[in-house]
Amino acid sequence: LKPRAFSTSIRAQAVPALTQDGLKKLAADKAVDYVKSGMVLGLGTGSTAAFVVDKIGGLLKSGELKDIIGIPTSKRTEEQARSLGIPLTTLDDHPLLDLAIDGADEVDPGLNLVKGRGGALLREKMVEAASKSFVVVVDESKLVSGLGGSKLAMPVEVVQFCWKYNLVRLQDMFKELGCEAKLRVNADGKPYVTDNFNYIVDLYFETPIKDGLGAGKEIGKLEGVVEHGLFLDMATAVIIAGKTGVEVKSK
Ligand code: 5RP
Repeated sequence: LKPRAFSTSIRAQAVPALTQDGLKKLAADKAVDYVKSGMVLGLGTGSTAAFVVDKIGGLLKSGELKDIIGIPTSKRTEEQARSLGIPLTTLDDHPLLDLAIDGADEVDPGLNLVKGRGGALLREKMVEAASKSFVVVVDESKLVSGLGGSKLAMPVEVVQFCWKYNLVRLQDMFKELGCEAKLRVNADGKPYVTDNFNYIVDLYFETPIKDGLGAGKEIGKLEGVVEHGLFLDMATAVIIAGKTGVEVKSK
């Protein structure tokens, strides 16, 4: 994976004091350096990915990028891309993408991720798995020593019919990690429904997950689980913006 151009040096580079949004935008701009004309692009979901989509829209408008075609990972991103005039396609028409760029909720030292706090994990995983390269954009608050370590949600998408069964089974599966499982709800108390008409059970861990691969396999065995937010061994590179600079990590 080679960049089209570098807006800044690939090495860590000092940046002036920025807000968290400023850091997200910095990481996003850096990731767009990897976008080249003619690519089929996976467009991520979330506040960091939104900066990526904005930037791509701007470069298409200015003519610096041409013939980009995007596959959005959510209805939200689809709307944003359409409003910016980014041409869109589907995974059926383009089952192999050149590059996907997306945010993450957690990044561990092996560049494994937790994703899906924004609820788009299923389409994100499909699009990112179908992509030759997957670049992740985060601010430094997303770095953890072990997945599940942020004490924030690790989502599991489940079919509506058996959400309670999965909630009970998931909590039991990870009881040694002090796991609490909760159905994701909206502000009005009604269940959050994903773009694929499923529910989300969020897992909160007291202790980080030691064996991500094993955990993913066990979760996947449950009847009615559609997808989980562990994105293991998928990232080609992670771009991290922090107070001391922007860093590109790859395996
Ligand atoms: C959505 C995601 C997002 O990429 C993740 O939640 C990060 O979002 P943000 O950039 O807003 O922090 O996985 O399903």
